[in-house]
Amino acid sequence: MPPPLGPPTAPPLGPPAPPAPPGPCHVAIIMDGNGRWAAARGLSRSEGHKAGAAPVRAILKEARAAQVQYLTLYAFSTENWRRAENEIQNLFELLIQYLDAETAELLSSGVRLNAVGDLARLPQESRAALDLAMEVTRANGDITLTLALSYGSRAEIVAATRALALRARQGLCDPQELTEELFARELWTGALPDVDLLIRTGGEKRISNFLLWKLAYAELYFTDRLWPDFGTEDFRQALSDFQGRRRRFGRAV
Ligand code: FPP
Repeated sequence: MPPPLGPPTAPPLGPPAPPAPPGPCHVAIIMDGNGRWAAARGLSRSEGHKAGAAPVRAILKEARAAQVQYLTLYAFSTENWRRAENEIQNLFELLIQYLDAETAELLSSGVRLNAVGDLARLPQESRAALDLAMEVTRANGDITLTLALSYGSRAEIVAATRALALRARQGLCDPQELTEELFARELWTGALPDVDLLIRTGGEKRISNFLLWKLAYAELYFTDRLWPDFGTEDFRQALSDFQGRRRRFGRAV
């Protein structure tokens, strides 16, 4: 005879599951591999960059869903000014096209657009489009998308040092009182938190003069995937790898 039906017995309570480690607050990406992606298809480098705009859209959406608060993309380095004029011109046209196509979406989806770098060197039209998109989205706060444009960390550190030295010469600050925090505030990236996770696509294992100050304790993630092929699943994989890292920030735990 079956036992009488009683109230369903709850499974015994074990110890509570440990809280999941927090995801990264600031993710930075070196979007490498556009040229090789294009070459493999018999296309021009500029077509590779054009294909590289699609993942930007998808990864930003995924980052926001994963509650990443800052996403910083290396879109054009100081060293990239040495590329062929035609490639440079196409890259800045692509930036304008991206901003024209995406600003409304950035605005409605809570994205604040930001830019760091020697922005005075940008072609006037790109600079104007960038300024407008930043102005339009400045009240947003779900996620900050920072484009590093005409950016190099060494130039950034020299610019900060020069600004501080000039102020000291004018008697406006005392060099003895300079701290890491005060120095960091002078950087182009002064408003951004430290990077938690750096992703580099394209198979190279280098930092390439990107966010040197902010990367001091970042976890580094390298993948062979070329940037135009980098998809949401790849991004999730990088986040999941990050969750498995033990961050010690110099402590001995
Ligand atoms: C490096 O690949 C990539 C760049 C220099 C440009 C990155 C630009 C984009 C992804 C365009 C889209 C971005 C926005 C924000 C509109 P590479 O040319 O060095 O590739 P390679 O190493 O294969 O030659």
